[in-house]
Amino acid sequence: MKLPGKTILITGASQGIGAATARAFAAYPVNLALMARSKDLLQGLAQELNQQPDVHALPLVGDVSRPEDVKTVVAAALDAFGRIDILVNNAGVGMQSPITAMDYEKARRLFDINFWGALMMTEAVLPGMRAQKDGLIINVSSIVGRRAMPGMSVYCASKFALNAFSESIRVELRPDHIRVVSFYPGVTATHFHRNLLTGPVPEAGRGLAKVSSAEHVGRAIVRAAIKEPRDAYPTLFDRVFVGASVLAPRLMDWLLAKTVAGDTNDGSSIPMEKGH
Ligand SMILES: NC(=O)c1ccc[n+]([C@@H]2O[C@H](COP(=O)([O-])OP(=O)(O)OC[C@H]3O[C@@H](n4cnc5c(N)ncnc54)[C@H](OP(=O)(O)O)[C@@H]3O)[C@@H](O)[C@H]2O)c1
Repeated sequence: MKLPGKTILITGASQGIGAATARAFAAYPVNLALMARSKDLLQGLAQELNQQPDVHALPLVGDVSRPEDVKTVVAAALDAFGRIDILVNNAGVGMQSPITAMDYEKARRLFDINFWGALMMTEAVLPGMRAQKDGLIINVSSIVGRRAMPGMSVYCASKFALNAFSESIRVELRPDHIRVVSFYPGVTATHFHRNLLTGPVPEAGRGLAKVSSAEHVGRAIVRAAIKEPRDAYPTLFDRVFVGASVLAPRLMDWLLAKTVAGDTNDGSSIPMEKGH
């Protein structure tokens, strides 16, 4: 997609990958609808981005898991900019919980945000995209949505579910010229690990995982918006990790079991989880 003049709605834009993605899009003359729950952070970001020539950023406070917020936010974006060309479903939370100590309330809350939130946002922008016969949806999954990690089964399952959703609607929406990109970041230096539904975990000890900056991942999302691949990875490491997991799943099981066995077993020291 050619970006100049386009309107992009980004969920989870108040910090981390979402805020970095907004900054990366703001290198172009675009309209940005920025959604999250943290009003002050969103307002600060919008103010910053509105300094850029020909960039119009609008903070929209809302919770993706609340149907009424989803409707209000999409209506406000359409009201301000007339159309939505790109939806980046980025809002997401994590949790660490071994199966023997599952907190079902938190697990359901996680799915409400990571899966149902993305689904509701997509549904809400579709009438406009269908009418304009053009649109792009970028679903921010994770490499752990391709190879699940021990101790974070619910988070991984939510990303596997998101991938299935992307795969299904990619074909379903083809007649309307609406494209769908699945985006798979690996460990990224954000406050994700502090914002886990199960409480913060220490950042140290990222194991073998290569850590990307949020800025790098944000720029990769913008590249994905321009090139519109089916699947996109911010780094070669992320792509190779997923490829190796598909080619040698037993070897990956063995490696992960070994790493976790030598760990504190509290779920907070699983190598790929640390950057979250
Ligand atoms: N960091 C990593 O290593 C990593 C790796 C792979 C994939 N990811 C994925 O990347 C995405 C962004 O994560 P991040 O690392 O940037 O985490 P983050 O720094 O914790 O940011 C999460 C964003 O999601 C928003 N959010 C959370 N719950 C929300 C809700 N109910 N409604 C609306 N917005 C909500 C937060 O804003 P408010 O709190 O203001 O609502 C925040 O802007 C997530 O989908 C995550 O699963 C992250």
